[in-house]
Amino acid sequence: MGTKFVLREDEIPRQWYNIQADMPTPLQPPLHPATKAPVGPDDLAPIFPMNLIEQEMCTDRWIDIPESVLEKLLLWRPAPLYRAHAFERALGTPAKIYYKHEGTSPPGSHKPNTAIAQAYYNREAGIRRLTTETGAGQWGSALAFACSQFGLECKVYMVRISFEQKPFRKMMMAVWGAECIPSPSDQTAAGRKILAESPDTPGSLGIAISEAVEEAVGRDDTCYSLGSVLNHVLLHQTVIGLEAQKQMKLAGDEPDVVIGCVGGGSNFAGLAFPYVRDRIHGREVRIVATEPKACPTLTRAKFSYDYGDTVGMTPLMPMHSLGHGFVPEPIHAGGLRYHGVAPLISQLVNDQLIEPRAYHQLECYEASVLWARSEGFIPAPETAHAIAGVVEEAKRAKEEGRERVILFNWSGHGLMDLVGYDKYLSGQLSDFELPDADLERFAASMTNFPKPQERRRS
Ligand SMILES: Cc1ncc(COP(=O)(O)O)c(C=O)c1O
Repeated sequence: MGTKFVLREDEIPRQWYNIQADMPTPLQPPLHPATKAPVGPDDLAPIFPMNLIEQEMCTDRWIDIPESVLEKLLLWRPAPLYRAHAFERALGTPAKIYYKHEGTSPPGSHKPNTAIAQAYYNREAGIRRLTTETGAGQWGSALAFACSQFGLECKVYMVRISFEQKPFRKMMMAVWGAECIPSPSDQTAAGRKILAESPDTPGSLGIAISEAVEEAVGRDDTCYSLGSVLNHVLLHQTVIGLEAQKQMKLAGDEPDVVIGCVGGGSNFAGLAFPYVRDRIHGREVRIVATEPKACPTLTRAKFSYDYGDTVGMTPLMPMHSLGHGFVPEPIHAGGLRYHGVAPLISQLVNDQLIEPRAYHQLECYEASVLWARSEGFIPAPETAHAIAGVVEEAKRAKEEGRERVILFNWSGHGLMDLVGYDKYLSGQLSDFELPDADLERFAASMTNFPKPQERRRS
């Protein structure tokens, strides 16, 4: 009946797990934005260092974690695994609910697992500055923290709506020595173009990526860093699931269902991929990816080649995408407002190894408030989408009278996101479901792009 399952420092995983080695359908290649030919390492060299490009393309199953990265991860890892006894009681469910607490890192989320690794590899490659985008500010603050650990400069383009809603994250970035500006900005051609077309835009991750990439392309001392979506980012996050597998053994349980929320897909993949591997090799475990109904990428968007950013500077990636011009409603889960999703996750959804589900904002806040009043920790609004998925599974277990073991990723705390809670508690928030007409309108931008193969190749 334990509550907390902790590993010793010497039990931290020493290798990352690369799911590319086990996928039934190999990943289809990214395409050059102009020529539409598969991209090679040199195409990515203007924005990423070669050591990370190699990792992006690597298909080895296990990749060693450098000692300097481990040393930094040990500041907060191994992260604890909890059993949510009080939440189980609050739901009156026979399900056992376990969660991996990724909110214990200095910025308060899973994001530094890759930020630390990316800052390290960039410094090793002689890069002095990094640019990036951020939605809710979690990623920007994680990269600011990581850059301060490795002596790099950091510039963050923050989606304007979050910049206004979440002032404390930009202050955290300033404390760690980074510069944070609202996007779209007048500092890049991409930002100026969008501001001229729609001066009141709330911004989007796609726009902020365009700005950060543009700046990195224009300077030799600067690379771009992405907090999700790419293969190497998801790879760095697998320490979460590898730790969880050891901790579930300590708890004496195995999950029947593994749940995580999906923006670009990194925290979900981090917990889930080691379990997807088990599933590929025959173990019965369901893997559930949750997202907002306002930004229903996995549940309703087309599987297509699309740009990762808004203006079309990045390679075309094979993924579920709402269309690179998609500007989502300003829901509070800023980190889930992205038009695309990791190609690795898209392919695994196509292969029916992952089940996607979508939830409304209000049911997510309701679940989170119940969580805070039972378990104590206040979840980030993104994490709330995983908790909504947990509630659905736990209620089903109750209806069926079955003991079901649920494991989910508690991806971050919401202590910098209290404005959203305040609005929820005072009845100022509403639900939004993307209308079919908007879905079709935004998808039209992908009509002439090459189509990736959809079904499993056997
Ligand atoms: C706490 C938290 N969870 C989840 C996400 C979603 O991102 P990803 O899908 O890459 O994990 C974010 C993104 O900002 C976040 O801050």
